Amino acid sequence: MSQKLVLRGNRPLKGTIRAQGAKNAALPVMASALLLNGGTLELSRVPDLHDIQTMSDLLRNLGADVRFSQGQMRILTPEELDWATPPALVRKMRASSLVLGPLLARCHRAVLPLPGGCAIGSRPIDLHLKGLAKMGAEIRLEHGSVHAEAKRLKGARIYLDFPSVGATENLLMAAVLAEGETVIENAAREPEISNLAEALVRMGGQIEGQGTGTIRVRGVETLHGTDIQIIPDRIEASTYILAGVVTGGDVTVTGMEPEHLEALLAKLEEAGTRLSVGKDSVRTLPGGTLSAVSLKTLPYPGFPTDLQPQIMAALCLAKGTSVIQERVFESRFLHVSELKRMGCQIELQGDTAIITGVEHLTGAEVRATDLRAGAALVLAGLAASGYTCIYQMGHILRGYEMMVEKLQCLGGEAETVPCDENEGPKF
Ligand code: UD1
Repeated sequence: MSQKLVLRGNRPLKGTIRAQGAKNAALPVMASALLLNGGTLELSRVPDLHDIQTMSDLLRNLGADVRFSQGQMRILTPEELDWATPPALVRKMRASSLVLGPLLARCHRAVLPLPGGCAIGSRPIDLHLKGLAKMGAEIRLEHGSVHAEAKRLKGARIYLDFPSVGATENLLMAAVLAEGETVIENAAREPEISNLAEALVRMGGQIEGQGTGTIRVRGVETLHGTDIQIIPDRIEASTYILAGVVTGGDVTVTGMEPEHLEALLAKLEEAGTRLSVGKDSVRTLPGGTLSAVSLKTLPYPGFPTDLQPQIMAALCLAKGTSVIQERVFESRFLHVSELKRMGCQIELQGDTAIITGVEHLTGAEVRATDLRAGAALVLAGLAASGYTCIYQMGHILRGYEMMVEKLQCLGGEAETVPCDENEGPKF
């Protein structure tokens, strides 16, 4: 049975919620447990999400013992690991490709069906594969799967054509057990990569330069078990800040890292919203304005592509015309046609969306096409008059822990209702 989210909007949200742990940090850190040769990795602040379950199932399938309860996860990796990943799990989630580097480094071979994931472009993994090949792996594509082999990976100088988050993570994990030094140039600088590097260093890895465009890794023979805390989820926190902004509410998000949200906070300030930024919290204050602003998505510290749909929903209610250019993913505009059902005025020209702000949105039946597109519809629904019904809510649950409870805690009217898979608006 599928689920739909029913929201009644047009009321200011008010209250305090705590940010969840970052999904996009927890996933690679979980994959890094495969590098252990008979050891235990303990993670805290792990969000309870579908993607985390998928990664847990994947690790279990490879032979690891994964226990998870109330944000605490314990992964025991045995000496004997399987190196062939199950297609059904890998196709569920693109981040499954993160096991490739660790498996190759630890087991000297890996088979990975080409991964699936959100419907936001072709999303190849060529940069991961090129980097691993540079480290001496032999890579073949057969029957839709990547087959990789290497006796022991060798340190190399790798330049990434684009600072891909996943490629940086995969190569970083492979490099910690490689022979000699690896230098990753044009590496991604996302905070989630620093969190992964911190976990690897605690496991005995030798890494410098994480958080910059050049990461140096000196390979070691073996790693040991450790514990690691997952950083706060900057995208989840940002989504609730935007919920405060679009409803003209008074929302405080605590347990977060405002430093990781500079790109969003700067844009909100430029738009005239009133915010109070603390050491580990952000509060939206009523009484500000929301004027049009323009932005382009870029790798960190630029404006995150994972917030593009949500800020677009907010800018649909801004005074004036905003322009958003999507520079990280092709075709990440599937939310546009759904937002238009609610009265948003958006024109698409290639990788650019031109948004003419309107005074009111009206609730409608809409469909979540992917995780962040779904989050944008939630924001529009919270601001719109009447009821909004969001089908395929499962997409949203991939990234937002206890979303309905959090919205209710802020005074929002939200509930999930079981529905038929084929119900809802058609494209
Ligand atoms: C990660 C995040 C995702 C976020 C994205 C960009 C996780 C689990 N997911 O995804 O939420 O939207 O970063 O911030 O952390 N590319 C290639 N070849 C490659 C790899 C990437 O062409 O081998 C392209 C992609 O198609 C895309 C761009 O590079 O256009 C960015 O992708 P990447 O940074 O790799 O994103 P992910 O790691 O998949």
